[in-house]
Amino acid sequence: MIRKIDAHTVREAVEEAYLHCKEESGGRNADYIPYLAGVPAHLFGIAACLPDGSVITAGDTEYAFGIESVSKVPTALLAMEQYSAGQLLHKIGADATGLPFNSIMAILLERDHPSTPLVNAGAIAACSMIRPTGDADAKWAAIRGFIGELAGSEVEVIDELYRSESATNFNNRSIAWLLRNYGRIYDDPELSLDLYTRQCSLGVTARQLAVAAATIAGSGVNPTTRRRVFKAELTPKITALMATVGFYEHTGDWLFTTGLPAKSGVGGGIMGVVPGVLGIASFAPPLDGAGNSVKAQKALARIAARLDLGVFHPTHCIPASAEAATV
Ligand code: DON
Repeated sequence: MIRKIDAHTVREAVEEAYLHCKEESGGRNADYIPYLAGVPAHLFGIAACLPDGSVITAGDTEYAFGIESVSKVPTALLAMEQYSAGQLLHKIGADATGLPFNSIMAILLERDHPSTPLVNAGAIAACSMIRPTGDADAKWAAIRGFIGELAGSEVEVIDELYRSESATNFNNRSIAWLLRNYGRIYDDPELSLDLYTRQCSLGVTARQLAVAAATIAGSGVNPTTRRRVFKAELTPKITALMATVGFYEHTGDWLFTTGLPAKSGVGGGIMGVVPGVLGIASFAPPLDGAGNSVKAQKALARIAARLDLGVFHPTHCIPASAEAATV
């Protein structure tokens, strides 16, 4: 039987998962970016945004944390919006690497393209694609503005995080120049790397991530502002990318378990998208070995099971408001 979800059923599931996972103590904060090691490990929040724009929250959903790799989703979308999905496929690709997010090996193995905009190499390449080429300030305004439009409110860089990342991002610097070596970066490597570092250092709340996810679920229309942010045809493209690589080398296990296309970041955030149904996010800093929040994964997996969010199930959930259209 198809499960119909409304604000009430989502609220019950969010609150139940929050209480159930609150005391979970597994994982460790990322520390290769010094700022992240100091974020209070007990913080935990869950937010869901429905097609009518209502946002359901539990816990620390107003704390601005580092968006980190979740930012790879908006930049990939913006690159597709400025060029086309086909151009993103051609210039970057859509294959999962099966390797860690910062893998140099993946670049060497995939000689034809960096594989996907949702790993560091592809994300730096996506930043390089953003127009207008060569103009760092205008490119940054485009990226920051786009993320704000997706999230329904402005996002700001956490300066201390940006300084912390910039002072330690030697691996990413190597990636940017390796891409240059293979002709797979489309603007100045240092400029592209700095844009990537800045976008990773943006502060977002779980509420903002849930709204951004709901904008993707809503085929590009932000349900809180009612503004169109990107072309409807891009929702299946970005959701496919999230499903194939959102948790790096743990993506298969995640998708097998939950069926929920989602993207994680080492700041502890995870954003999940159920097209046509809802956007959901959770935040808790301690991570597993692949760089994915332990508590946020547990919470979202629990909610996905309870609400039948898995997109591969023939009878996965639908919004209660869509009931009439399906009978
Ligand atoms: O480039 C990095 O390593 C970080 N700024 C982002 C990595 C990240 O969030 C991986 N995701 N789980």
